[in-house]
Amino acid sequence: MSSKLWGGRFTGKTDPLMEKFNASINFDKRLWAVDIRGSQAYARALARSGIITSGEAEQLVAGLAQVAGEWQRGEFTLQPGDEDIHTANERRLTELLGAVAGKLHTGRSRNDQIATDVRLWLREEIVALRQHVHQLISVATERAAVEIDILMPGYTHLQPAQPIRWSHWLLGHAWAWQRDAQRLDELAARVNVMPLGNGALAGNPFAIDRLQLAADLDFAGITPNSLDGVSDRDFIAEFLFWATLTMLHLSRLAEDLVIYSSREFSFVKLADAYSTGSSLMPQKKNPDALELLRGKSGRVLGGMTGLMATLKGLPTSYNKDLQEDKEPLFDAVDNLSGSLQIACGVLSTLTPNVALMRAALSPEMLATDLAEYLVRKGVPFRETHHVAGAAVQMAEVQGVPLSELTVEDLQRLHHAFEADVSAIWDFEHSVETRDVAGGTSRRAVLDQIEQLRSWLNR
Ligand code: ARG
Repeated sequence: MSSKLWGGRFTGKTDPLMEKFNASINFDKRLWAVDIRGSQAYARALARSGIITSGEAEQLVAGLAQVAGEWQRGEFTLQPGDEDIHTANERRLTELLGAVAGKLHTGRSRNDQIATDVRLWLREEIVALRQHVHQLISVATERAAVEIDILMPGYTHLQPAQPIRWSHWLLGHAWAWQRDAQRLDELAARVNVMPLGNGALAGNPFAIDRLQLAADLDFAGITPNSLDGVSDRDFIAEFLFWATLTMLHLSRLAEDLVIYSSREFSFVKLADAYSTGSSLMPQKKNPDALELLRGKSGRVLGGMTGLMATLKGLPTSYNKDLQEDKEPLFDAVDNLSGSLQIACGVLSTLTPNVALMRAALSPEMLATDLAEYLVRKGVPFRETHHVAGAAVQMAEVQGVPLSELTVEDLQRLHHAFEADVSAIWDFEHSVETRDVAGGTSRRAVLDQIEQLRSWLNR
């Protein structure tokens, strides 16, 4: 008999190229621990159903623990026929236990096995990723609290628009990450459902108690339909969407910081730990960490699109196409783990250049405040917008900053201007007028900080 799991009905040899083409062991071997955990629980479920004895189950559980030890110590040696992690573990178990090992797969298929393994694996990875997101939000929030006094230009269309607090900019990113954390929590619940007991497609014939098996594996529930259970990869697609959106947020942070750390802006100085030099130009300090965050976001997006394209045309239940789910998933998990920690490192070690941010604020950025001054005197906004525009033009013609126009100059544009207009030529004053919830005033920003802190400490 062939040593292949499915060898019984096959007589011809597999093309060696096909063997390689078919194999997933090179990437799915990282599932070794969850594969063994799932098998141990399954052996116990078989014993509870009475199809194997509890003595046999104990043998299987102990043998599997031995296999796990070999993986753990780096002693597990893959053999040519080890097609995937399930095949490899069962082959080794058979070497250790002999015939009884052949009872482990009773009523089980690699179809419900792999779907279970990936869910067990991803569930743990999500816990680690969730902590990284938490850490990143925490760094942004605490920086925002300490650096609340720093003012900088806010941009729209990347054109200087209005003064804002640096903390407001930091929190703008933090809120996006907070949504990422919420989304991750929500999808984690859909990952934590057990397909084991679905068999190949039609269900388990030996009356195993799936609910008890799920409890043994700490799953919150079981998949309700075996056809769907073996083929559902929504939880991976959803995770990849999460990963893509989170990377997109990191990429946008990175882009801001690439600009802000450029010599022309110099709003922030990146720590040497996250920059590199040029092999050619001695004066260069490159923001490689940020460029990689931006670059990897494209790659994770590609993985998500690839998997969705793989899934879209599949007929009901398991198809081998589904083996293509793991590489993009592993790649996304690895990249997210690295990217979140690097973003956290960059953000916690950069130095804001308070003076240069302040110097980049120009009186023209208060043109809206000039219009708002008149609004407060009862002039309709549309009219005030026009007047403020005329003031900008007048200052340009006179060759002076907007703030240098005299009250008389301004009164020529509108009679409602009075001496108190001089109070608006103050950037601090400008940000403090944006005192609405979600605004950039000190109180509004402190309120955001409190909201995030209490969310973080939940
Ligand atoms: N390596 C396979 C995968 O990742 C395991 C399931 C194989 N099932 C099968 N019927 N060939 O999807």
